[in-house]
Amino acid sequence: MDEDAFRKEFGQQSVFRQAASLDLSYVPPKLYCRDEVIKSLIYNYRRILEEKEPPSINCLLLGKGGVGKTVTAKYFGKNFRSIALEKDVNLFIEYYNCINFRSKSKIIRELLAKYTHGSGRGFSDDEALKLILTKLINDDAYMFLVIDEVQILKSEDVLAFLDIAETFGHHNAKLSILLVSRIKDWMKIETERILSRLNEKIKLKPYDFDDSNLILQYRSEIAFKENVINDDILAMISQIVVENKNMRHGIEILRKSGLYADKEGFNRISADMVREASNEVYPTFRGDVIDKLNEQELLALYGIVRTLINNDEPYALVDDAFEEYNAVCESYSIEPHVKMSYRKYVRQLRDLKIIASKTVRIEDAQRGRHLKITLLDIPPRKLEELLEDLFEKKFK
Ligand SMILES: Nc1ncnc2c1ncn2[C@@H]1O[C@H](COP(=O)(O)OP(=O)(O)OP(=O)(O)O)[C@@H](O)[C@H]1O
Ligand SMILES: [Mg+2]
Repeated sequence: MDEDAFRKEFGQQSVFRQAASLDLSYVPPKLYCRDEVIKSLIYNYRRILEEKEPPSINCLLLGKGGVGKTVTAKYFGKNFRSIALEKDVNLFIEYYNCINFRSKSKIIRELLAKYTHGSGRGFSDDEALKLILTKLINDDAYMFLVIDEVQILKSEDVLAFLDIAETFGHHNAKLSILLVSRIKDWMKIETERILSRLNEKIKLKPYDFDDSNLILQYRSEIAFKENVINDDILAMISQIVVENKNMRHGIEILRKSGLYADKEGFNRISADMVREASNEVYPTFRGDVIDKLNEQELLALYGIVRTLINNDEPYALVDDAFEEYNAVCESYSIEPHVKMSYRKYVRQLRDLKIIASKTVRIEDAQRGRHLKITLLDIPPRKLEELLEDLFEKKFK
């Protein structure tokens, strides 16, 4: 074998050109099919770069899961910053996902640490905000703050963010905000007062077949080497995206099929691989959220999963899940928390859309009301595997 042949062989080992481009946090250089949304954002926020006293603008991106809200917000932020720098405006883009930062205080503390290197301990939220705003003025800087999954915050926290310019004075607030949320979740926290402080509510519709096809074509060009995936296969995945109204499903299928091809030594993605991968993707289930759960929430979830598997029923009762949780804690030598805390973790899991729960009245039960818990679309055994993998890394 000569060197060229060696190189060729080496190059054929993977179907991927850039596997990381299929990670959820990746922002592609071009954003297809969201021109209208990006234009709305530009018209709202460009005043910041144009006016002598830059105004404070608040907008909201709304849409179902997997319609590209997060990627659109990040794409806009990235490019907005480039334009600002060209115009000599010192614009900072800050992105916070409320799955990681679950209150207004957490976000403000994090900003404070970043901008003033202080821990912010002992300060109220308003005092901390004041320090950040002063720092921005002193540095002649401006902040564009993106708050994703904002429905996790309390309504009054959202209002407080949107009210910064009113509270601290417009000339003191070198800050604009872009909120991001799924429509249904947003409706639960929206109030008249919040509405009155939004410059625009921008809705993203699910992609149709042609859009999906174009986007998947582009994403697979970035992710895969040439001839790894053909048009028929892309059309097949686009169809799945349209049926689920969720682009994440499509990206996940690309990623999983590619990994499978690599593992089995194929240099093309076949229809069978796509079918297989599609069965492994659960559109409403979000692995990225699982990664962000704290230890107690993970253990609580594991208790639920074990109950579902053991009882072989479509739902678990919270009392049973609590018992399983205790057993799980014991097996990992972790001190279990009391039942009231356990109920709190279950509520959190529900708010994060990992489980669904409802309170039912069970006639013959002595305690009367019960909480019935179900998983969304992932089978318990699959979730069990996933959690065990995680625990293996975390607790061993
Ligand atoms: N127009 C697009 N061009 C390229 N990739 C896209 C586009 N829209 C969505 N995607 C990709 O589809 C996946 C899902 O998009 P994204 O995470 O932005 O959805 P979302 O609306 O924020 O969903 P959720 O409500 O579940 O958070 C991501 O991998 C994203 O990069
Ligand atoms: Mg998102």
